[in-house]
Amino acid sequence: MRVERTKSALRAALAEARSGGQTIGLVPTMGYLHEGHLSLIRAAAADCDLVVVSLFVNPAQFGPGEDYERYPRDEARDEGLAEQAGAGLLYAPAVEEVYPEGFATSVNVAGLTDVLCGDPSRRGSAHFSGVSTVVAKLLNSVDPDIAYFGQKDAQQAAVIRRMAADLDFGAKIEILPTMREADGLAMSSRNAYLDEEQRLRAAAISRALGAAADAAAAGSRTDAALAVARELLAEAGIEPEYLEARDAADLEDVDIFNGRPILLAVAAQLGNARLIDNVVVNPQQSE
Ligand code: PAJ
Repeated sequence: MRVERTKSALRAALAEARSGGQTIGLVPTMGYLHEGHLSLIRAAAADCDLVVVSLFVNPAQFGPGEDYERYPRDEARDEGLAEQAGAGLLYAPAVEEVYPEGFATSVNVAGLTDVLCGDPSRRGSAHFSGVSTVVAKLLNSVDPDIAYFGQKDAQQAAVIRRMAADLDFGAKIEILPTMREADGLAMSSRNAYLDEEQRLRAAAISRALGAAADAAAAGSRTDAALAVARELLAEAGIEPEYLEARDAADLEDVDIFNGRPILLAVAAQLGNARLIDNVVVNPQQSE
């Protein structure tokens, strides 16, 4: 597999592929690849002739005191896994290549970014500005036919969809389902921070979301469904940072399940790991 570290080498490799009539898929990642990432790469390989995987731990999306320095990194392993899953090119730039001296631009998607993880009392919208800026740069540098993202990061997916539509990016944005461990825990590079005891308790997060989804299907309002989830989290000693029901497309607050896709989203800190998960449900209730 080809590995490129500069925008100019990336562009040259892609021009060659395009002139040979190849379609291009892009899977942006921060590395330390797991089955969630690999499912995106496999889907891209099924759809596109050439799959570009980007590997860049993006400092702009980490807040002060967050885990940028200790974020897990293993490029040699990632290279092998990406290749096996069907990637043809790994783009692994240095920080200075992405943010050269004098870099001064940021992309902000309003509205969607000041709730849930972007709430000013939590990570704040600066996190999403870091994400949208780097994804905009990747979409410009690679100019893929299709770019792939995971539903695991539902708010990020909504922000990227909005940005791509608003800024006229040509790429189709594909959002693919969350890959989970056998006990339901959503796969995440940050699961590596969990000790054995926290890892066992972490399974309560997806169980709680499943129970809330069941309650919704059985006719509960959003507050009652979320109370069921909160109870299961409490039994596992987990106090969520947030646990909310929101419209899956515009992330507006909702009181009832109104037949539209509703996102039940949770974030919780377990030891050193900040975990997020979500499920989308769409039962119809009258009031
Ligand atoms: P990262 O956390 O490495 O995730 C890369 C992609 O994999 C994202 O689209 C994410 O939603 C997806 N993903 C993560 N866990 C998944 C799972 N369990 N199942 C399915 N997909 C999963 O998200 C980022 O990096 C960054 O914010 C990035 C978009 C690369 C911008 O820096």
